[in-house]
Amino acid sequence: MRIAVPTETLAYETRIAATPETVKKFITAGCEVVVQKGAGEHANLTDAAFVDAGARLADSFAETCENADLVVKVRAPSKEELAQLASGTAVASLFAPFSNPLLNDYAKAGLSCFCLEMIPRISRAQSMDVLSSQANIAGYKAIFLALEHYKSFMPMLMTAAGTVQPAKVLIMGAGVAGLQAIATARRLGAMVEVFDVRAAAKEQVESLGAKFVEVPVDDADGEDAGGYAKEMSDEYKEKQAALIAEHAAKSDIIITTALIPGRPAPVLVTEGTLSKMKAGSVIVDMAAEAGGNCPLTEKDAVWIKDGVTLVGISNIPALMATDASQLFARNVFNFISPMLAAESDGESDDEPVSFNINMDDEVIAASLICKDGEFLKPQLLGEKE
Ligand code: NAI
Repeated sequence: MRIAVPTETLAYETRIAATPETVKKFITAGCEVVVQKGAGEHANLTDAAFVDAGARLADSFAETCENADLVVKVRAPSKEELAQLASGTAVASLFAPFSNPLLNDYAKAGLSCFCLEMIPRISRAQSMDVLSSQANIAGYKAIFLALEHYKSFMPMLMTAAGTVQPAKVLIMGAGVAGLQAIATARRLGAMVEVFDVRAAAKEQVESLGAKFVEVPVDDADGEDAGGYAKEMSDEYKEKQAALIAEHAAKSDIIITTALIPGRPAPVLVTEGTLSKMKAGSVIVDMAAEAGGNCPLTEKDAVWIKDGVTLVGISNIPALMATDASQLFARNVFNFISPMLAAESDGESDDEPVSFNINMDDEVIAASLICKDGEFLKPQLLGEKE
């Protein structure tokens, strides 16, 4: 069983899907691991550390993936990479299933693709949940991105030169990223207010010492059966927009994290709302990848509109590549390792292992998007066609 770990090629992608720690675990489980030279550089993981862990190094993508049973990546293979993968190879990575135009091409190329975003959020799969591990990092870092542009203190300070008022931080969306942003802002002494459509978020927000702003609408709970947000009624959106405008005008920093799976991000900070904000305030739009919670956000850019700085960095976890890679790689190992099975009775230490894709396992069935030339999740293709 050979596992390949190529260098990421997408712009701004600094993470890697395996670390010396997980390479060692794969080798202990009976696998052979090939890592592309320099693949861990941006995450501060040297080639020497991978070799010490037992990996073999290779020069190019093609050489790394040659004869691989499984390729582990952060980002889905590009068109060029896809052309270099042999039919029958398995790939585990993020696949951006709602926007990736190559989904059907992976199936046609005979790959078996595990879409890590589609791992179900059941208790058993928590240790495999890349969305959570990376959103947690993004929520933390978002506060520091805001502070890079915010020209005042976060906490209240009593100084000989007078009192400094604490920053007012408004957070929209209290999922994994939002909750970590709340906790981080609170630790730094900010006053924090929060919006979320899911009623369940209220208690979590309050337990972190922040204020939950409720939208006064009957039957306002916006949680779907999977625990994610759903599209809200027009009445809700109207009342929420008015409340957001009121609270945004008083805020110094806004962090928006609101996402609805498979749909464009909801518009929460309109141009009109932004025009009422104070000069010097900062918006970090963490939904930039899905179109942004503010229509003025420019993906992967920072710009100033009417004195308000808009930060639209779409891949925030990549700014913390070391920890992001450590957690991502552990998630990948936890996902893959149950599929590794000894070929015989498991008596000897260097027992060869094989890769068993058990479709009766709900975690595998939910995340495997194609196998043996067949695309298994037609609903994803339907949305794009
Ligand atoms: P997400 O990244 O899809 O969305 C971020 C947040 O934005 C969510 O809290 C959502 O309710 C909120 N949102 C969407 N539209 C909004 C709007 N118009 N106004 C205000 N807020 C809006 O969410 P994430 O972080 O992936 O978490 C979704 C849910 O899954 C949460 O309930 C979380 O606790 C749960 N979860 C469960 C896990 C498990 O059981 N293993 C692991 C991780 C998360």
